[in-house]
Amino acid sequence: MAFQIPRGTQDILPGEVEKWQYVEKIARDICKRYNYHEIRTPIFEHTELFLRGVGDTTDIVQKEMYTFEDRAGRSMTLRPEGTAPVVRSFVENKMYGNPNQPIKLYYIGPMFRYERPQAGRFRQFVQFGVEAIGSNDPAIDAEVIAMAMELYRSLGLKKLRLVINSLGDVETRKAHRQALIDHFKSRIHELCEDCQVRLEKNPLRILDCKKDRDHELMATAPSILDYLNDESRHYFEKVKAYLTKLGIPFEVDPRLVRGLDYYHHTTFEIMSDAEGFGAITTLCGGGRYSGLVQEIGGPETPGIGFALSIERLLAALEAEGITLPISEGIDCYVVAVGEKAKDESILLVHKLRKAGIVADKDYQDRKIKAQLKSADRLNAKFVAILGDDELAKEVINIKEMSTGEQTEVPLHSVVDYLKERLSQEG
Ligand code: HAM
Repeated sequence: MAFQIPRGTQDILPGEVEKWQYVEKIARDICKRYNYHEIRTPIFEHTELFLRGVGDTTDIVQKEMYTFEDRAGRSMTLRPEGTAPVVRSFVENKMYGNPNQPIKLYYIGPMFRYERPQAGRFRQFVQFGVEAIGSNDPAIDAEVIAMAMELYRSLGLKKLRLVINSLGDVETRKAHRQALIDHFKSRIHELCEDCQVRLEKNPLRILDCKKDRDHELMATAPSILDYLNDESRHYFEKVKAYLTKLGIPFEVDPRLVRGLDYYHHTTFEIMSDAEGFGAITTLCGGGRYSGLVQEIGGPETPGIGFALSIERLLAALEAEGITLPISEGIDCYVVAVGEKAKDESILLVHKLRKAGIVADKDYQDRKIKAQLKSADRLNAKFVAILGDDELAKEVINIKEMSTGEQTEVPLHSVVDYLKERLSQEG
């Protein structure tokens, strides 16, 4: 029986993986400039972390987690997201004691959610995310949003829409919660079973329901923005003013509640408006959280962050017809003709590689013509042709593939010669 890859996962093969590496490099460069540092946390955590962190009424916790018992009977979960693990690490490593607040962290790694796979939705996907923990300044909200926008823009994406909202503080949420209960209560039987449970436990989650999203009660539901108290309103105004100052256009959508429980104040999503991008248009989601650090056992500390998947980013690039400047191909292919030349070619590629030149040779005992074909297929810039005769004269033929021009070079200076020619090419 041939094995098949699990549903909702993918192999990222050579040819495709270079795009991932390119995007990840740009993401890391941006983090460096914004002074965010990488954190690597485990791929699995104690299940309890996500129950508390993400919220036990969310779809993620209720339906989507890969949870298993380890051999000692502990409940473990493959991380469905990165914020709760990062905050766990922040608390466990007492980063709140570091005098350099806020602590600015980023991560790139696989996340796991048992969702129904479709275009842009996987069961294993890679998130790039950032978390700035320890500041209540609305300027950091703008900074975090600017980072996400910069990643997309620097890759050439244009059809982007930034949507923001505020969920206010605890007081706001309480007043809004009551208003939601009053709004939905008498007609809750018209909504799905999940929503009926949500009404009791967490009515805000009703607004995030995938099944009842088009029900008229959703459109008429009380807007959180009408319940913001003065402090929350002022905070939101500041965030908006900073975004405007940074030249980042945005829309306000009071129905943007996000699918995780830890948010307060600013929430945001970045959508792709590119034609043909598919039904799922959200590229990136994030927001501010307070209470999460405390929930996980640390001192009351606010944070803000976002996460985006590389899968959806690459899909957006494709939808906008953007190709990344990825150089495929190698610098030099060494062609050897004759037994002695073959033995010598092993040393030559070794020397070239040590000098930083991307080099390869034949390992299939091919004839010269077939070796030249391989060089062509590998997109080699130069071919170094070594025969037993050349070897006796201690010279080698270097052919530039783009022009066909051939030069005989002394064997002892071939590394320097190629280095020089490659640096001229840039
Ligand atoms: P989220 O909205 O659940 O937020 O996910 C963030 C992003 O991860 C989405 O916008 C999307 O790009 C990607 N994503 C989520 N699920 C999938 C999937 N099944 N397949 C492909 N991509 C997916 C969070 O995870 C929060 N931790 C974000 C955050 C960080 N908030 C504060 N800090």
